[in-house]
Amino acid sequence: MKNIPYSERATILKATNVNKFFLDPVKFQVLKDISFEVKKGEFLSIVGKSGCGKSTLLYILSTMDTAYDGLLEMNGKSLTGLTQNQLAAFRNEHLGFVFQFHFLLPEFTALQNVMLPGLKLGKFSSKEIEERAYQKLKLVDMHEHALKPSSKLSGGQQQRVAIARALINDPTIVMGDEPTGNLDKANSDMVYSIFRDISHNNGQTIITVTHDPDFAEGGDRIIEMSDGHIISHGHEKTVQ
Ligand SMILES: Nc1ncnc2c1ncn2[C@@H]1O[C@H](COP(=O)(O)OP(=O)(O)O)[C@@H](O)[C@H]1O
Ligand SMILES: [Mg+2]
Repeated sequence: MKNIPYSERATILKATNVNKFFLDPVKFQVLKDISFEVKKGEFLSIVGKSGCGKSTLLYILSTMDTAYDGLLEMNGKSLTGLTQNQLAAFRNEHLGFVFQFHFLLPEFTALQNVMLPGLKLGKFSSKEIEERAYQKLKLVDMHEHALKPSSKLSGGQQQRVAIARALINDPTIVMGDEPTGNLDKANSDMVYSIFRDISHNNGQTIITVTHDPDFAEGGDRIIEMSDGHIISHGHEKTVQ
């Protein structure tokens, strides 16, 4: 978000003393006392060597994994301890996900794939959801392919559709695990520009795990992990 000093921005997501163990095949602590905050409209990247716990952390932040110790809050309200149904409703309304592998339904058109989370949320009529889906496809420059089955699109095009799908409900937070991991430079740049735009101009928060240094550097802050710890919380950049 532009023009608001970092310290005065609202905290949107907060993790406090998150610890996680995997028990199989042996007991092993994958996350070690993770505490951090993310501000509204912040574009945050999480980096670190393969195996240090980034995906495990993101999975907890996404509320999909509830088997952890510690506290997760959004907008000052605890997400820890909510029922699976409450969490599913929360995810539908507030979170959008972009993964390295997009998981589109191959037989469905691009448009139908983008509409799905909108229909699931049930906040708008199907006509409105269709219009919104076209807008999101336009944002990723895929509106001309709206009626093609997603299986007929290239990898980069499918990833752009997956982004449109993640944005259909105007999520408060967009989470990505290696969202550009599978893309060429042109498509990576487009994903970056969209994330930059929606964080700056809509105040949507971006949290991405990435190996791409340009992508991470272009955001507002980088958190670095090593062996289950946060070893640097990064420095927020001054946004002009
Ligand atoms: N379901 C699981 N059961 C046991 N160990 C796991 C499981 N998932 C991941 N791990 C281990 O936890 C560590 C962190 O994994 P992960 O979060 O995927 O790392 P990163 O995303 O940083 O590469 C790795 O050592 C991985 O092998
Ligand atoms: Mg990972």
